[in-house]
Amino acid sequence: MNIFRNLFRRYKPTVVHPPMDIMQYPMQAYLDTGKEQLVDVRIGFSTTRQPISCGMNPYRDRAGVYDSIQEVCKGDVLDIGACMGDMSLQLQNAGFNVTALDISQASIDYMTKVGVQQCVLGDISTIGDQTFDTILLLGSTLGICGQMNALPGFLRQVRSMLKENGQIIIEDANVLWGDGYSEWTCQLAYKQYESTEFPWLNVGADRLVEELSKLGFSSGLVCDHVKSHNYVLLAKLQCADSVVRG
Ligand SMILES: C[S@@+](CC[C@H](N)C(=O)[O-])C[C@H]1O[C@@H](n2cnc3c(N)ncnc32)[C@H](O)[C@@H]1O
Repeated sequence: MNIFRNLFRRYKPTVVHPPMDIMQYPMQAYLDTGKEQLVDVRIGFSTTRQPISCGMNPYRDRAGVYDSIQEVCKGDVLDIGACMGDMSLQLQNAGFNVTALDISQASIDYMTKVGVQQCVLGDISTIGDQTFDTILLLGSTLGICGQMNALPGFLRQVRSMLKENGQIIIEDANVLWGDGYSEWTCQLAYKQYESTEFPWLNVGADRLVEELSKLGFSSGLVCDHVKSHNYVLLAKLQCADSVVRG
């Protein structure tokens, strides 16, 4: 009986909340060892093991995406959901004034250690009245909206943080979903740690463009990275001056 009890104790996961704080463990291991760390992403009954070093998307041509973004970036930049801060760091090193925003303390700690200078812990409401020339939503960060009905309000809030002639750059991986969308309940697991569940939104590219055009954005595709069966949409969105602060 004791054997079973001990086994159960040993495999009982340590539950982490807020959910994103689980990332402190793989991020620290990545810093310490320089080796790729894999995190399980559980959605319903399916689990996929994803590498953290490419923003949890193994099909993503990260260097290609970041270079394309750097080419079109301008002025003061806000990187929402900056995560490990790779894009923020690249832009900072290229001379941009970048603010890296993330809700996870683990992410802020990691970015500070790797040299990102302006890190802000929180969500977009934490930013206050500050405005930006370029706002980045990369690596499917739009998913943080959780539900479709939260998307327009979120985009409106992001739009209100733009300076005149500002732009939003979105990288999302749902080109194939057309005008559809899906609301997931996700959980992350790494070694003995398991996050609490959190909602995640996936929006098809057509639906996203539709929502953005309702808010006065015109979108132009910067580039279209296609790798294996996974597509990445990289859209640069500009808003008419009159509606930027709407
Ligand atoms: C999919 S990862 C983003 C990956 C990163 N932008 C990239 O390109 O590789 C989503 C990030 O958003 C952060 N996040 C989740 N909810 C957030 C919120 N409400 N505000 C800001 N960041 C949030 C998470 O902690 C996580 O680091």
